[in-house]
Amino acid sequence: MAISGRARELRSEGRDVISFGAGEPDFPTPEHIVAAAARAAHDPANHKYSANQGLPPVRAAIAAYTKDFSGIDVDPTQVVVTNGAKQAVFQSFAALVDEGDEVLLPSPYWVTYPAGIELAGGKAVTIPTTPESGFKVSVDELEAARSDRTVALVFVSPSNPTGAVYDADEAREIGEWARDNQIWVIADEIYQRLVYDGSDVAASIVSSTSRFENWIVVNGVAKSFAMTGWRVGWMIGPEDIMAAAARLQSHATSNVANICQQAALAALRGPQETVDEMREAFDSRRKLMYEMIGDIPGVSCVEPLGAFYVFPDVREILTDEVPTTARLGEALIEEAGVAVVPGESFGAPGFIRLSYALGEPDIERGITRIGEMIASL
Ligand SMILES: Cc1ncc(COP(=O)(O)O)c(C=O)c1O
Repeated sequence: MAISGRARELRSEGRDVISFGAGEPDFPTPEHIVAAAARAAHDPANHKYSANQGLPPVRAAIAAYTKDFSGIDVDPTQVVVTNGAKQAVFQSFAALVDEGDEVLLPSPYWVTYPAGIELAGGKAVTIPTTPESGFKVSVDELEAARSDRTVALVFVSPSNPTGAVYDADEAREIGEWARDNQIWVIADEIYQRLVYDGSDVAASIVSSTSRFENWIVVNGVAKSFAMTGWRVGWMIGPEDIMAAAARLQSHATSNVANICQQAALAALRGPQETVDEMREAFDSRRKLMYEMIGDIPGVSCVEPLGAFYVFPDVREILTDEVPTTARLGEALIEEAGVAVVPGESFGAPGFIRLSYALGEPDIERGITRIGEMIASL
């Protein structure tokens, strides 16, 4: 957000800035969803407080959607509708973590995760992953990081910032390890439908693992339906944990805006072609970006298979003058007019995150500028 802010500032001064910083689709929300929201705004029933955990039809639609895309059988009573997946992340930690508890967090990670763990009084135990393993964590690494204070594991697939996607076997192995060690899994499936490996949804760790009970699924409409600004997400899990999360929510925020919930209902129940169209557009941009970055000397990149980010390794091109990726990020935006997010933000200095939520001509111009800047170092 800080990078996008600086990009906007420079643009307002008349500079031509290409931003690879965005963490959101550049497409507008599909028209049928917007129309449903407009209708909902005219219905006085939506002008009042509503059930804290979410409107009953919305919870039912989320349960059905979770069956369709995550392969998990859940009852609508296990669903809490939240202000974006972000609130679901926060409430998951608040419900599960006591002072001093440890949460395993594979890195690179999305920056909200360590903050959410710390806010709950917990300790984030990061487990670094590398390009060599495709930025995926192994059961051996998890086992080495486990202690008698470990209560939960954060499992995000596809990943922000790396675009790594675990297949069903890899997910099952980790799920079984968590199950056998009675460690909760917080499964963030927000990017589940943005995958480019030939399938149209990523494997869910929950449905990949048998006899598994200690899980919370976090999801939302933000990324799949280009609805980041509408703030509708959800959490699903065992009823006692959801009741604890709902109690917190009832004091913190109460119900998610009814009009936005009605929009989410239209997204979940309505035509799904727009998701496929968006995925195809992202896929073509992904290929372009991955190829162009691969051509920059000194820069290497693992092919991302999900979400809308590439996460190149730029350690080789760092110099005495530009010794860190934080400094490289500043130089790129100030001198080359290109905004990227330095890996420091994700616990991974030496890498940069580039979002491909922008048009192909801008991707071409922007990566060309990055290549020229790096050549001049
Ligand atoms: C991994 C991950 N989870 C959750 C979210 C938050 O989604 P929402 O906009 O629904 O709060 C993001 C947003 O960037 C994300 O990258």
